Amino acid sequence: MKAIFYRKFGERDVLEFGEMPEPIAGEKQLLIQVERSSINYVDIRERQGTYNRPETHGGEIKLPHIPGLQAVGRVKAAGSSADQSWVGKKVLAYTPKGGGYAQFVTAETNFCVEIPESEDADLFAALPNQGLTAYLLLTASTKLVSGESVLVQGASGGVGSLAIQIAKILGAGTVLGTASTSKKLDFIRSLGADDAIDYTEDNWPQTVLEKSGGKGVDILLESIGGEIFEKNFECLAPFGRYILFGSTRGPGEPFAPRRLMQKSQSLTGFYLPVYLTRPDLIHQGMEFLVKATADKKLKPSIAQVLPLSQTAEGHRLLEDREVQGTILLDTTAL
Ligand SMILES: NC(=O)c1ccc[n+]([C@@H]2O[C@H](COP(=O)([O-])OP(=O)(O)OC[C@H]3O[C@@H](n4cnc5c(N)ncnc54)[C@H](OP(=O)(O)O)[C@@H]3O)[C@@H](O)[C@H]2O)c1
Repeated sequence: MKAIFYRKFGERDVLEFGEMPEPIAGEKQLLIQVERSSINYVDIRERQGTYNRPETHGGEIKLPHIPGLQAVGRVKAAGSSADQSWVGKKVLAYTPKGGGYAQFVTAETNFCVEIPESEDADLFAALPNQGLTAYLLLTASTKLVSGESVLVQGASGGVGSLAIQIAKILGAGTVLGTASTSKKLDFIRSLGADDAIDYTEDNWPQTVLEKSGGKGVDILLESIGGEIFEKNFECLAPFGRYILFGSTRGPGEPFAPRRLMQKSQSLTGFYLPVYLTRPDLIHQGMEFLVKATADKKLKPSIAQVLPLSQTAEGHRLLEDREVQGTILLDTTAL
């Protein structure tokens, strides 16, 4: 089969397009003929070899490695202990150990969900990694109660844009998102956020307070870091839950836990690979994402579709921050 793979860690030129052996489905796995895969930022970190500890990847990367955490395609075969009725179905698969940048991939049945046969089937390929993160932040790290207010930092990004929509689907009250440009702020409003706030302006926490009735937000999803980490507390409500899942701008200053006593707040960390030990939650999340997308309540944002052989260009676009939305890989147009 044709695949994108690397034999050593490094910059984009380690990505090779060529022949690799077709994988064989394990006992409880499905063999899927891939139609679309997509690129996550973490694929770049893995390629560079900076994200290769057993705990970050659910097991260390063995070279040569085919990246790709998600795929849409048709089931070609099912393992000996898997339900054979999967064969022939169109599915969305989460493949946390990689393999999606190829014409065939294997996936655990638990991490596969049937999707409707429709022209929009491509859209689903954007969902698993970022969508599971957004869904589990709001349902497992904390449980969003209907009517609660939510602030999503970096809300124009992949996780952020899905979190805004999922918060609304789950019944949130006021939902606010932050970004750095007016185009991105408009995009956040178009997703259904009640308002979008420019966090390049110093007084952004004050604006969040005003837009949340002076009280602050009940749930805050943080992925930016740097000085934002500390400033978030200025607009977190009493009893507020602060969920930390990334630090794009760096780790920020040391933090004294007593800070949380002043307003009876809580701080929770989130890390998706840890959830691989909870396949029930992953499966629940996959079903939610597929249903919400099929019902057109959730709209993943697609930046562009590239043929599989152009994957290195997709990595470049993401590294240079030239895209808004997910880059899909077409494994049928090589
Ligand atoms: N904990 C987990 O399990 C988990 C899972 C998935 C993702 N993540 C993390 O979640 C974060 C968002 O992931 P994503 O896939 O949604 O990424 P993304 O699509 O690239 O979005 C990142 C957002 O962060 C903002 N940002 C602020 N400072 C930035 C900087 N210095 N460089 C790049 N972006 C910056 C950008 O908005 P502006 O340009 O408007 O500032 C952008 O919208 C990342 O930190 C990622 O590592 C964590």
